[in-house]
Amino acid sequence: MGFRRQTRPGRLALLDRVTLALEASLLSRRDGLWAQAPVVDIGIGSLPWTTVELAARVAPLQVIGVDDSADVVERARGFETPNVSFMCGSFSLPMRGVRLIRVMNVLRDGPPEAVAPAHALLGASLLDGGLAIEGSCAPSGEVGTAHWLRKTATGLAREGLVMWLDGSRGTHPMAFRDRLPRDLRGARPHPVFDVLARWTDALHRLPASPERLTAAAALVDGLTPIPIEGGQAFKLEWCPRPLQR
Ligand SMILES: C[S@@+](CC[C@H](N)C(=O)[O-])C[C@H]1O[C@@H](n2cnc3c(N)ncnc32)[C@H](O)[C@@H]1O
Repeated sequence: MGFRRQTRPGRLALLDRVTLALEASLLSRRDGLWAQAPVVDIGIGSLPWTTVELAARVAPLQVIGVDDSADVVERARGFETPNVSFMCGSFSLPMRGVRLIRVMNVLRDGPPEAVAPAHALLGASLLDGGLAIEGSCAPSGEVGTAHWLRKTATGLAREGLVMWLDGSRGTHPMAFRDRLPRDLRGARPHPVFDVLARWTDALHRLPASPERLTAAAALVDGLTPIPIEGGQAFKLEWCPRPLQR
């Protein structure tokens, strides 16, 4: 089994919790086209643990796991349940009217230039107001980050960067630096690095405590804590400045 398919149970559990905390109204919406709007998880992995876990969290919504490897999809089919199914495919999905698309640990090994076209394809399948989550995390999910991308009348808009960690490897803003989405890890440091540096400076000015990361976040413009069990999470608003180049 190739490295590019590695996953494990619970890897995206903190992201599942963040998604439920931030998107309760998106997940509970049932008016009009939303009544049948599914959730899509692109990039299943060697076994579909993370897709099945997401499906359990958002039941009774339909969850469709999508992967470009026929082997992966074949194996995943043994895990189908009334609300989770699997199909071959990629970013250009055959369905429209999707509520939420998640793409975790799929784009990280490709070139940064591949990210914007992939995001545009995801946007084409979402309902207006729908959400795409695209990012990377550590092998066991102990730290991760993801773009929060909202479908608007004019396309897919960057709403924020969501970051989470479980504290098992410390609680330092720089932990997020190595797990940034692919397009923020280019040759030139992205302005988000300055945000992490300001957060670090604020942290160093505070006394050590379990709440120090959250207390320091309050001193950085645009950062909002997201209360979740089992970890700490934050959303960085994606404003025109200072984050966009
Ligand atoms: C590292 S696993 C990630 C599994 C799970 N999402 C996670 O975060 O643990 C990446 C998966 O994405 C699939 N994949 C890679 N490139 C893809 C593409 N362009 N379209 C669809 N699936 C892709 C691989 O076959 C693999 O199953």
